[in-house]
Amino acid sequence: MNMTTRPNSTNIPENWDRSGLPGWTYHSEALFELEKSEIFLKHWQIAGHVNDIPAPGDWLTFDILDERGLIMRGKDGVVRAFHNLCRHRGARLADGEAGHCKNAMVCPFHGWVYNLDGTLRGPSRPETFGQMDRSEFGLKPIDLEIWHGFIFIRFLPSDQPSVRDMLGDYDADFTGYRSDELLPASRRAGWGTVLPVNWKSVRDVDNEGYHVAMAHPSLQDLYGRSYRDIVHPSGLVSSHAVFGDQPG
Ligand code: FES
Ligand SMILES: [Fe+2]
Repeated sequence: MNMTTRPNSTNIPENWDRSGLPGWTYHSEALFELEKSEIFLKHWQIAGHVNDIPAPGDWLTFDILDERGLIMRGKDGVVRAFHNLCRHRGARLADGEAGHCKNAMVCPFHGWVYNLDGTLRGPSRPETFGQMDRSEFGLKPIDLEIWHGFIFIRFLPSDQPSVRDMLGDYDADFTGYRSDELLPASRRAGWGTVLPVNWKSVRDVDNEGYHVAMAHPSLQDLYGRSYRDIVHPSGLVSSHAVFGDQPG
């Protein structure tokens, strides 16, 4: 990438309060309950990439807190998100991280059958349900937005702007890297770890590149000399660097 096309950092006010959040915000159960609904469930969560589910019938799941999401590509090629709950008695519909269903998703509890677009094809033993309007019992949709190939979902309704609006400052980068063409190295490849800390502590560590020289010597070798954090006018931050031609 051409560094000369990068925006310069917005001027940070001299009197910016850099003291951080008070300590109690990291261990208050009451605040964490608020954060669950107001941040994690009302905000977009990145759940995967369209190329994780390239074919009709491919699906992946995304769970957060007590919510379960199911993202599935329909026969029409459209990617949709639903609560991963059967409309009969709430059984988990898709079990596992990812998979493929040929023609329909069948609930493992009593066998209700859903089309790949989430509509109910029919209950098993339909005669036991009398008159039933199947259109009332499709899977419950979840907000979904695809941005440069990445799938974002949002479990609770919210007035948060679209992903496209919020991440607009990164648009050129994602276009340049052709992110929508990314292919998974393996199905649902990834890694994770559980730490006994508040989630904000992880963000605190990762929101600057100042620590790279000491904490990540191999990254420092790779691009450390040109590493810089940029604060965009919108408040978004990005970090930029070019590969070095020599260590250090
Ligand atoms: S809970 Fe799914 S068919 Fe009964
Ligand atoms: Fe780091």
